[in-house]
Amino acid sequence: MALITLGIETSCDETGMAVLEDGQRVLANSLYSQVIIHRKFGGVVPEIASRRHLLKLVPLMESVLTAAGLDLGGIDLIAATRGPGLIGPLLVGLCFAKALALARNIPIVGVNHLEGHLYSACFNGRVKPPFLGLIVSGGHTELISVGAGFRHRLLASTRDDAGGEALDKVGKAMGLPYPAGAKIESLALRGDRQAVIFPLAIMKDGSDDFSFSGIKTAALLEMRKRKLTPRRRADLAASFQEAVCRQLVTRTLRVARRRGVKHLVVGGGVAANGRLRRMFQEELAPGEKIFFPEKGLCTDNALMVAYAGYLRYKAGQRDGDALEAKADLKIT
Ligand code: KG4
Ligand code: ZN
Repeated sequence: MALITLGIETSCDETGMAVLEDGQRVLANSLYSQVIIHRKFGGVVPEIASRRHLLKLVPLMESVLTAAGLDLGGIDLIAATRGPGLIGPLLVGLCFAKALALARNIPIVGVNHLEGHLYSACFNGRVKPPFLGLIVSGGHTELISVGAGFRHRLLASTRDDAGGEALDKVGKAMGLPYPAGAKIESLALRGDRQAVIFPLAIMKDGSDDFSFSGIKTAALLEMRKRKLTPRRRADLAASFQEAVCRQLVTRTLRVARRRGVKHLVVGGGVAANGRLRRMFQEELAPGEKIFFPEKGLCTDNALMVAYAGYLRYKAGQRDGDALEAKADLKIT
C-alpha cells in the first residue's frame, strides 16, 4: 500500500502544501506566496504573514487534495514544519496540522525546515548520506556533516548575516524589490564580476564560519562613492554576487577536503543561483561531486517538508500532542 504524505509549510511568508506518494511521486505541490504583500514593507511582517497563512491553509489543502485526486481519508501522514522560522506563522501551520491529525486520526511528524532544505537534493534518490551539506537561505548559512540515520553535526555557520540576507540587503539598497537574490542574479548577467573586488572574509580564530556583513558594508559604501548608473548597478550586482558565491564555495570545499568528503549537497533559496552552481562545478577536484535540488525546490516549498517528514516517519519518528513550534529550532 502506498503511503501518502501531506506536507505543510508556513515558516515564513509562503503557505505551501504538497501531496507525496511513497516519498517519491509528487501528486500535488502548491505554494501561495505572500511576497507581493510584504514587498511594500521591504521585508516580512510576521503578523500579516500569520493572518494570510490562516486564510490560505484550508483553500490550499482543498486544491492540493483535488489535484491529487484524494480526500482527507486518503492521507496517511501529515508532515508539518515546526521550526525554525517566525513563531506566529509556525504556530498557525502547526496548529492546523495537529488539529487535522487529531480530528482524522492521522499520524503526524514535525519537520525541521532546515532538514527540508538539507534533504531536497536527495529527492528521488539522487544522492544519499553521508555528505557535506551547505544550507544557504534568507535566514541561515550552515555547513553540516550529514551521516546515515539523521546523524547531523553543525560544522560552521554565519557569524552575522545569512548569504541570502546579505543579497537581499544589498539589493534593497540598490532599489530592487524584496527578496532580491534572484533579481541580483539576473542583473549580474549584464555586469562585470571583476568590477569591484570584495575581500574574502577570513576568521581570525581560523574557524570555518561564514561572515557576510563586511562585504555587505563594503557594497553599501561603494554605492555611496559613485552614482549608480545602469551599468554600475549591473557591475555591482555581478561583483557582490561573485563575492558571496566565492566565500560559500571556498569555505565549503576547504571543509570537505579537510574531512575527506567527496559528496557535497547544497540547499536553500540561494542554491537556485546559477553562478553559485557554476562556481562549485568549476572548482571541484576529480572525484568530488556536488548535488543541487531542482531549482523549484531550492526556495521554500512544502514538497521538501513532505519528503523530510516521510524520511523521518520511515525512520520511526512519531509526534503527538506534545509537538511544539520552535522559532529557533536547531538542526540536531
Ligand atoms: O530558502 P528560502 O526560500 O527561505 C528561507 O528559508 O530563508 O530562501 C530565500 C532566500 C532569499 O534571501 C532570496 O533572496 C534568496 O534565497 N534567493 C536567491 C535566489 N533565489 C532566492 N539568491 C540568489 N539567487 C537566486 N536565484
Ligand atoms: Zn527556507
